[in-house]
Amino acid sequence: MLKVIRSSFLDFIDDPFYTSEAASVRYLEDGLLVIENGKIKDFGTYEQLQEKYAGIDAIAYPDKLIMPGFIDTHIHYPQTAMMAAYGEQLLEWLSKYTFPTEAKFKDKNYAAAIATVFLDELLKNGTTTALVFAAVFPESVDAFFEEAERRNLRMIAGKVMMNRNAPDFLLDTAQSSYDETKALIEKWHQKGRLLYAVTPRFAITSTDEQLDLAGKLLSEFPDVYLHTHLSENVNEVQFVAELFPNSKGYLDVYDQAGLVKEKSIFAHGVQLTEQEFKRLSETKSAISFCPTSNLFLGSGLFKLHQAKSTETPVKVGLGTDIGAGTSFSLLQTANEAYKVVQLQGEKLSSFKALFLATLGGARALSLEDKLGNFEIGKEADFIVLDPKATPAMALRNADFPVKTLEDIADKAFAIMIMGDDRTIEVTYIMGEIAYQSI
Ligand code: GUN
Ligand code: ZN
Repeated sequence: MLKVIRSSFLDFIDDPFYTSEAASVRYLEDGLLVIENGKIKDFGTYEQLQEKYAGIDAIAYPDKLIMPGFIDTHIHYPQTAMMAAYGEQLLEWLSKYTFPTEAKFKDKNYAAAIATVFLDELLKNGTTTALVFAAVFPESVDAFFEEAERRNLRMIAGKVMMNRNAPDFLLDTAQSSYDETKALIEKWHQKGRLLYAVTPRFAITSTDEQLDLAGKLLSEFPDVYLHTHLSENVNEVQFVAELFPNSKGYLDVYDQAGLVKEKSIFAHGVQLTEQEFKRLSETKSAISFCPTSNLFLGSGLFKLHQAKSTETPVKVGLGTDIGAGTSFSLLQTANEAYKVVQLQGEKLSSFKALFLATLGGARALSLEDKLGNFEIGKEADFIVLDPKATPAMALRNADFPVKTLEDIADKAFAIMIMGDDRTIEVTYIMGEIAYQSI
């Protein structure tokens, strides 16, 4: 029942924002990954392991690069069909495009059809785990989890809670959102690889009462997640201040309801204050950095260097934020992250960006004991990348596979800037092929 994979491998064993890159990255030019029952049994150089597994025919991917599956820390599956909605910033974009789109998810058959396309798209882009917004309707959560379960994926999702400032057809009530969420947690959380996130949309669409009940759910089910939006857009932050005059700021609205904790993931955080970064650091909460979305909606430039400061370190993962995001690819998301960082006079190395897409994402989701790198015992979700996937990439990466850390940093940079779904050749889930490009 052993499976042996031979190729070049790249993963991270520590955070390159805080530890030297040489100490945080692991590159094996010629390595073996051994899988048993969907989990990693062994990992090392071909030279180290060849004798031990000499009796087993290796599945070889010459000239390819294998990495842990990408982790998308913020995405909306009901917005798959409304990407590229023109011309608006956040609040108008929500009213004009998003709310009418999400209304369709009352129909479970429609929801199931979109969930299928969505998960196909994730796997095609090398994303093996995601933290996912469903819609306000419980049926939309069932449709999503049923499809994820069928594919044996590790996915985190939740029903949107929203009881004001949106069209009636999308509103729940504080009590119904509590009851429905509770029933969904009992039905889906820890079922196989699935996990639940309590998901108030954002402060604007919830009353104090609804946020308090979300906090009650977190105390009743201490190992579920909290997933919401935070400080994305200037007008949004101002509206929150008007709606919650007794709060010290946007994050404080959530904090007062008991929503700022270790398993809380806040999308965006573009407009955060120094005090708020400090509070996120203290509480060990995470931010999902969504560069394509932040640029597309004109929200602003996320201060990655502040989030990853030594004084107030905050856990950060990358998010595509489909449908405000413009690509399912975490390579393309890393590409845009690089540019956002450049515009602020800082640098984002390939190792740092790919850390965020893998082990950093796993840490942001408190899943580092199960996912994020090739440590023995972890779940075997991984991807085979083709560094020469297009003619231009074949020129740029002509000398791949390379030997040194310096050279693989350069090749990985070309992969993250030029790469997309065409770069993903195979996606493995629990040691089984779930997607293959050819
Ligand atoms: N804030 C509240 N809802 C949403 C959403 O659907 N997308 C984004 N990008 N921000 C939000
Ligand atoms: Zn979002």
